[in-house]
Amino acid sequence: MSEERILNPQFQNRIMSAEEAAALVPAGAKIGVSGFTGAGYPKVVPAALAKRILDARISGGKFRVSLWTGASTAPELDSALAIVDGVEKRLPYQSDPVLRNKINEGSVEYTDIHLSHVAQLAAFGFLGKLDVAVIEVAGVTADGKLIPSSSVGNNPTWLALADKVILEVNSWQSAALEGMHDIYNVALPPERAPIPLVRATDRIGSPYLEVDPAKVVAVVKTHHPDRNSAFSPPDENSRKIAGHILEFFAHEVKQGRLPQNLLPLQSGVGNIANAVLSGLNEGPFGNLTSYTEVLQDGMLDMIKSGKLACASATAFSLSPGALEELNKDLARYSKNIILRPQEVSNHPEVIRRLGVIAMNGMIEADIYGNVNSTHIMGTKMMNGLGGSGDFARNAYLSIFMTPSQAKGGDISCIVPMASHVDHTEHDVQVLVTEQGLADLRGLSPKERARVVIENCAHPDFKPALKDYYKRAYAKSAGKHTPHLLEECLSWHLRYLDEGKMGG
Ligand code: COA
Repeated sequence: MSEERILNPQFQNRIMSAEEAAALVPAGAKIGVSGFTGAGYPKVVPAALAKRILDARISGGKFRVSLWTGASTAPELDSALAIVDGVEKRLPYQSDPVLRNKINEGSVEYTDIHLSHVAQLAAFGFLGKLDVAVIEVAGVTADGKLIPSSSVGNNPTWLALADKVILEVNSWQSAALEGMHDIYNVALPPERAPIPLVRATDRIGSPYLEVDPAKVVAVVKTHHPDRNSAFSPPDENSRKIAGHILEFFAHEVKQGRLPQNLLPLQSGVGNIANAVLSGLNEGPFGNLTSYTEVLQDGMLDMIKSGKLACASATAFSLSPGALEELNKDLARYSKNIILRPQEVSNHPEVIRRLGVIAMNGMIEADIYGNVNSTHIMGTKMMNGLGGSGDFARNAYLSIFMTPSQAKGGDISCIVPMASHVDHTEHDVQVLVTEQGLADLRGLSPKERARVVIENCAHPDFKPALKDYYKRAYAKSAGKHTPHLLEECLSWHLRYLDEGKMGG
């Protein structure tokens, strides 16, 4: 890519300031923005829009917009618009503290959607009419094609559906991004055909995004870095969880249920996921591949060390240090990394075909293996389920992990009944805490309860869980899934009333 990022005259004619571009967004608009975990989100138009919203409020007017993204973004987008009470509705995933508060105080409507479902829901109009797309790109080619940025997310869908398109062309993004993406459009039913992707390394589309130039109303030049939070170094619990998973993989290889180089890995967000990747980097497995949603520090380290042959994702999700390093040397990774639309990176058909190993974090699991990934005490939204459901149901192996306790030991993450369920017992094959691993494949509910309590619960809560199960079993006279309905959520109630869980 040349130093000049906008090579097409038609796009050059639309260059304007962020303020001028923001002025083209109507009040009440539904806006599809780029961005996925702090990568590739627009960095200057949202702030200009927030200023406009604030000005409107000061003069007594009302101005809110609905925001559709790939997934979470960064403060320049979500916080900026939430602080000025500018967000009417948000979907499909977020992790921003300011926005989270607004969602939990009830002033923002939030629709938490499986990430692979969003494009289809939008295309069939279930989310309403998309007015504007605000998309960060790394450049525009001479023939008017868009060079995608550090995430792809739902950008192809937003560009196709929006009435108006605003582009942020970010010269901070490495020129070496050109050629790294694989943009494949999944047709809608009834024309949908099999996605011809049989290995994580396959390229089946084009490196460029396409847009009708007539819809491009503004092109804004920027030079702003992506922003993700730093990862903490793995703590003792994360290291123990990683250790249990690695031991389990070694056992599965020995049993002939996994090949020596495992199967394509999907790794969720957060510090534990990163610790598992660090463990894999130091472990015995080589020539690994990944078919995942985000590419974190741990995967980059594995590519550098030669352990990971290829990573397919929809976005980078790197700490500031790793991002700086990657940006300096991106060309070196171009043959190892493929970025795809999230409809493809998270597609059930491909995940099932490749036999992905899915590893995701959770808030809590119950003794039968139902998993809550999203709701604190059953009512408050944490982040959202993101792609965890896309992977969990369709993976060859679906693993959920958490420390066995939260909030300094006041909360047990293994509870009698989950206070909200994102992943039912049928989608959860393996549960892991620092205490141990429960392989639930093929077990009945009663068998699952015994192994979950024994292997995963913290010793401080284990006797109370055993006591709950014993009494539920006795009272139910051996019913399929023993529960004491009058008591099953009492652990959460007790935490809310007294600040500590327990039977
Ligand atoms: N009850 C109440 N609070 C709990 C809890 C529980 N059982 N378990 C954890 N928490 C709190 C923690 O104390 C922490 O609170 P804080 O923010 O006030 O410090 C917060 O929840 C996050 O916990 P943490 O241990 O830091 O979790 P994490 O970074 O490993 O993230 C999830 C865990 C579940 C929030 C995260 O994995 C997630 O959002 N998952 C859903 C999306 C997903 O899986 N995406 C990947 C798909 S590709």
